[in-house]
Amino acid sequence: MGRRCRLCALLLVVAVNLTGPYGYITTGLPYLIEREREVVAPFPYPLRDALSKQQQQSDGIPRNGTVDAAHDFRFPAEFLFGAATAAYQIEGAWNADGKGPSVWDTLTHNHPELVVDAATGDVAANSYALYKRDVEALETVGFDYYRFSIGWSRLLPRGDRSSLNPAAVAYYNALIDELLAHGIEPVVTMLHYDVPQYLQNLGGFASPLIVDYFREYADTLYATFGDRVKVWITHNEPYDFCVEGYGTGSTGPLVYATGVGEYLCAHYVLLSHAAAYHLYQERYRETQGGTIGITLSGRYYYPATNTTPYETVERAIQFQIGWFADPLFGADGNYPAVMVEEIAQNSALEGRTRSRLPTFTSAERALVRGSADFFAYNYYSSRLAELDQTDYDPSVPPSWRRDARIVQSVDPGWSRAKSTWLYVVPEGLRGILNWYRVRYGNPTVLITENGYSDDGQLDDAQRIDYYARHLNAVLSAILLDGCNVAGYTAWSIIDNFEWLRGYSEKFGLFYVNFSDPSLQRVPKASANFMKRVITTRSIPAY
Ligand SMILES: *[C@@H]1O[C@H](CO)[C@@H](O)[C@H](O)[C@H]1NC(C)=O
Ligand SMILES: *[C@@H]1O[C@H](CO)[C@@H](O)[C@H](O)[C@H]1NC(C)=O
Repeated sequence: MGRRCRLCALLLVVAVNLTGPYGYITTGLPYLIEREREVVAPFPYPLRDALSKQQQQSDGIPRNGTVDAAHDFRFPAEFLFGAATAAYQIEGAWNADGKGPSVWDTLTHNHPELVVDAATGDVAANSYALYKRDVEALETVGFDYYRFSIGWSRLLPRGDRSSLNPAAVAYYNALIDELLAHGIEPVVTMLHYDVPQYLQNLGGFASPLIVDYFREYADTLYATFGDRVKVWITHNEPYDFCVEGYGTGSTGPLVYATGVGEYLCAHYVLLSHAAAYHLYQERYRETQGGTIGITLSGRYYYPATNTTPYETVERAIQFQIGWFADPLFGADGNYPAVMVEEIAQNSALEGRTRSRLPTFTSAERALVRGSADFFAYNYYSSRLAELDQTDYDPSVPPSWRRDARIVQSVDPGWSRAKSTWLYVVPEGLRGILNWYRVRYGNPTVLITENGYSDDGQLDDAQRIDYYARHLNAVLSAILLDGCNVAGYTAWSIIDNFEWLRGYSEKFGLFYVNFSDPSLQRVPKASANFMKRVITTRSIPAY
């Protein structure tokens, strides 16, 4: 039920009571009025404002550091802090109250052998029931905003509005209202990996059908929650989702279509994003005044050897982040030239009559280009890059990796988190923020994820070290380099279901004992550290 229907309910209660035996005043009425007042009270939306602000364009030249480190190395007053989660990783209640299955329900139930300890998100942190505990945790740390995702198959079990689930509307309304009542701005990710299985059966993101479905889903979200949600993220990490979900088929939705599927997926992610963006522009922006982005992921790269040319680093970044960021933030609304050329060439060698990389029509380019109000980005790690010099073998199945021709490695000096891929390279965050500044004219960036995995212990000194060093990199990028960074989002507020790693790798600022039915949230040392960062607006000694 949305705002308007609450009003209907209120009027109904008034009408019933006017004619009922008790006259005007009832016990139910004041509660409804108070609730209505509490929710419609003006909320300041500082993150929305920070992301909407027109930024001065950078000349692309690094500023000369003039900051007095001892006194001024602080986060600007308007800089905001938040924490993130995703629906499948925390909600549980996988089949409660009319929720339909997503591709992650299918994966964990049909292929338990792919997940560590055959874990599932069936219960997870049970945020479906315990969302108020999550909001308490956010409030304890002092976060300004909360980035969470909506379960598409919870809201629309069969993907479109014909299946709208009122229980899901009630749940997300309650979560959003709880956040606002505690002064925490909601940031909604529309899709964080959990595609409705019903739509996956129709091809999911490898099919152009998904664009209309996604537009209708976004329409439902704006109409239902847009009176209170002003920062929208359409997609999460399409690089990872497409390459591993539709190329190598190693993670949800387990589509093995290497060399083709990942490019189709990326194409329809971008077109569906643009469709959701333009729908908002046309029908909602004027009345709702929100802002829309898409969260990209990707590493920063360093030359593997003294003789590795910078061009190789550039190529590695363009094949990963540029793949999505160039069409959105670049000059011509198209994929990076290096991808267009390389994939066309390889496709020809394979005897194909057209490139495995789909082509945007000029109308589509115009739609995609500029269809993001800010640059949302998840940073975790970096790599060394070297170009694979061997001749392209067209008889081997094609893949994004073979098209990119980047051999990735790690510096032996980098420490590693529990996750095998998570090497700690804080300077890479500063590096990539500067790459955005130079390549895309200093867009406003929202860091939508950054975090560290371990066993989940309460005394998490290494997580504190990770946060401190990455926040330092962000501060340097802002104060010394002139990058426009509006906010920093920690992943995650609570321990949760880490996809194929199950519950074996923990990222939370709060500990959750998954063996205990109460699933209590307990602050780790890092929660306290983050609270001090937010209070002092600097990076305290630790
Ligand atoms: C940058 O700062 C250094 C040290 O303060 C100074 O020597 C140098 O001339 C400055 N460069 C520019 C371009 O202003
Ligand atoms: C988690 O909960 C279980 C069941 O209540 C309990 O036996 C166990 O000691 C708890 N683990 C930790 C680390 O608190």
